[in-house]
Amino acid sequence: MKIRKAVVLAGGRGTRLYPLTLTTNKHLLPLYNKPVIWYVIDTLVNAGIDRIMLVTNPEHVGDFARVLGSGERWKPRNGKGGQIQITYGIQNKPSGIADGLYIAKDYVNGEPCLLYLGDNYIEDDLRPYIKSFKKGATVFLKKVSDPERFGIATADASGNILAIEEKPRNPKSNLAVVGIYLYDETVFEKMLGQKPSARGEYEITYVNEKYRKEGKLRAEMLKKKWFDIGTFDSLADITHYLKKHSRKEKG
Ligand code: TTP
Repeated sequence: MKIRKAVVLAGGRGTRLYPLTLTTNKHLLPLYNKPVIWYVIDTLVNAGIDRIMLVTNPEHVGDFARVLGSGERWKPRNGKGGQIQITYGIQNKPSGIADGLYIAKDYVNGEPCLLYLGDNYIEDDLRPYIKSFKKGATVFLKKVSDPERFGIATADASGNILAIEEKPRNPKSNLAVVGIYLYDETVFEKMLGQKPSARGEYEITYVNEKYRKEGKLRAEMLKKKWFDIGTFDSLADITHYLKKHSRKEKG
């Protein structure tokens, strides 16, 4: 079944970006000439997604609605017309990525879906991966020079994930797990019985680990730029990058 729905998580605390995030949400901060979330919607629409649920906290949902509306500024890339539709889900507390995804359960309604953590900026085209996706789950990996800072994956020669380690002291690879995932229709049943982790969050690693144990967690490599927008340095780096490379769009 083709993936047409995405769940974008744009809640969280954004503590590493205090005081910038005292009055606003990380995903509404500017990246050169657009808010962070705008690039996310561009990426999803370019990938052929036309149904998006954005999950955020109650304080900022109105701001997102003002920025993105119902998605009327974007046009589907399927060549068949139609509309992009953005709807909103509310996560009362930042209780984890799996918790945020679970809010979209009824929206996803038994279809496969793409989960996008809104603080990721990528330049790869996701369309081929979405097209070829069939069963299980797919995580995206990107080579990094500082693996101690990320979730790090090891995979076998045919792309099956063997293990994912969070911020390892002695990393076994330099392949970081990017915050973008493709899930089949079994994703929500994998959360049944899940308990909060030691840090009090419903972790997405719990869900990915279930897929891995079933031998259904696959890796795809991103080849172009990736920024994880969580710190002042990454925010500054990507802004400089975009200033240099942006194709100054009209309008
Ligand atoms: P994180 O960067 O792990 O957390 P954060 O955004 O709260 O930032 P900080 O660590 O500086 O406090 O979150 C990853 C992404 O997931 C980010 O886009 C926010 C989103 N998120 C939610 O939407 N809900 C949640 O409950 C959590 C934990 C994260």
